Amino acid sequence: MDRRIYEHPLRTFRRGAPLTVEFDGERYRAFAGEPAAVALFASGVDVLSRSIKYHRPRALFCLSGHCGACLVRIDGMPNERACRTPCSDGQVLKGQNAFPASEFDLLSAVDWLYPRGLDHHTMMTGSRTVNAVMQKVVRQLSGLGHLPTPAGGPGALPEVTGRDVDVVIIGAGPAGLAAARAAAATGARTLCLDEQDRAGGSLLADPRHGEADADARALRATDAGAELVSHATALAWCPEDDGGLLAVATPGGLWRVTARRYVYATGGYETNALFENNDRPGVFAARAVGRLVVRWGVRPGARVAVVGAGAYPDALAVELAACGIPLLRVGRDGSERVVAAHGSPVLTALDIDSPRGRRREPCDAVAVWELPSPASEAPRQHGASVTLVEQKGGFAVDIDDDGRTTAPSVFACGDVTGYLGPDAAARAGERAGNAAAHEALGRP
Ligand code: FES
Repeated sequence: MDRRIYEHPLRTFRRGAPLTVEFDGERYRAFAGEPAAVALFASGVDVLSRSIKYHRPRALFCLSGHCGACLVRIDGMPNERACRTPCSDGQVLKGQNAFPASEFDLLSAVDWLYPRGLDHHTMMTGSRTVNAVMQKVVRQLSGLGHLPTPAGGPGALPEVTGRDVDVVIIGAGPAGLAAARAAAATGARTLCLDEQDRAGGSLLADPRHGEADADARALRATDAGAELVSHATALAWCPEDDGGLLAVATPGGLWRVTARRYVYATGGYETNALFENNDRPGVFAARAVGRLVVRWGVRPGARVAVVGAGAYPDALAVELAACGIPLLRVGRDGSERVVAAHGSPVLTALDIDSPRGRRREPCDAVAVWELPSPASEAPRQHGASVTLVEQKGGFAVDIDDDGRTTAPSVFACGDVTGYLGPDAAARAGERAGNAAAHEALGRP
């Protein structure tokens, strides 16, 4: 099977050199630059692994490295995120927690045998010996991954590098890129970090923007003087170290970043809707479907249900139609909702409730649009207050009009303050970057 899109009315997909990867003993075609999960899905792999306890099938949900659905063993390392790992020629991937294979796992009988759940702590407690044997068996049947090969102690500590700037921006989506450009334009030494493989964030999943727009915004930021660094994950704010520093993991080692001002533009996490079997492979976050189609040129399915109301799902539906993918629109006006997914191990149909009753629709992919949940842990750990607001998707960072949070020297902008969408996020980023830089430089 090949799910790649080779002709598109508006876009050209630039693929890297062809190569081969191995998954569960089978060889698959891939292209340099594609994440392993995308390459496998594009070549017809529907199930990557099994869940820890009930062995439910797992594949892709967020395609942004945040949900954990795509954890597999890659070249001997367990629990690697296949959606964040670029494929390479000869790469060996294996599903986890499955016997004999991820697609057909005999141990998934646990899920079938215990439809109401299984608490192994309270099983066979009459005899200490029998209980000990049972616990041992359960440990063999569950869990996530095996030790790395070759097994060994911890490796060498990473290199540590100190970085000192006026303004550091965490996140290079629409808000972060706008903040970086605005801050750098004032003359402030500006560093913009992003954990993904390239700048753009949600723009890369959005048919109204896409790679070209993301690249143009990144170029404007670097032209203004900002330094953009990809593959750089802000781990934690460490207040006890040298008066406070931001620990950042990069491929080259650990950075200790100090700045006059910190701007969090960390965006939002994909969330799922509540319905039966909403973890079935084939159920994607809407922006994951956007990433598949817009960035990677891969069809999510043969018939795709776009679920939810708003400008983003509307734009995604237009994009899928332009790709010639048969569509089903659900819940556009709020009168319909998905109540169950069917199919094993992957999605084949949805049950949908509407004022006219319940119906079953065949489809093999669902793009679920729910408000992204603000990725507010980092600013919160840095001291910024957050408020739980349902209309903002979760715990949103509290800010003033210029993006100042309640913590000294800490700003936030974009979807981390509650979902805004790319255009409003960019405007908020510009205000926050400008205000942060002026404060950093001591200007009024
Ligand atoms: S972490 Fe890879 S699909 Fe979510």
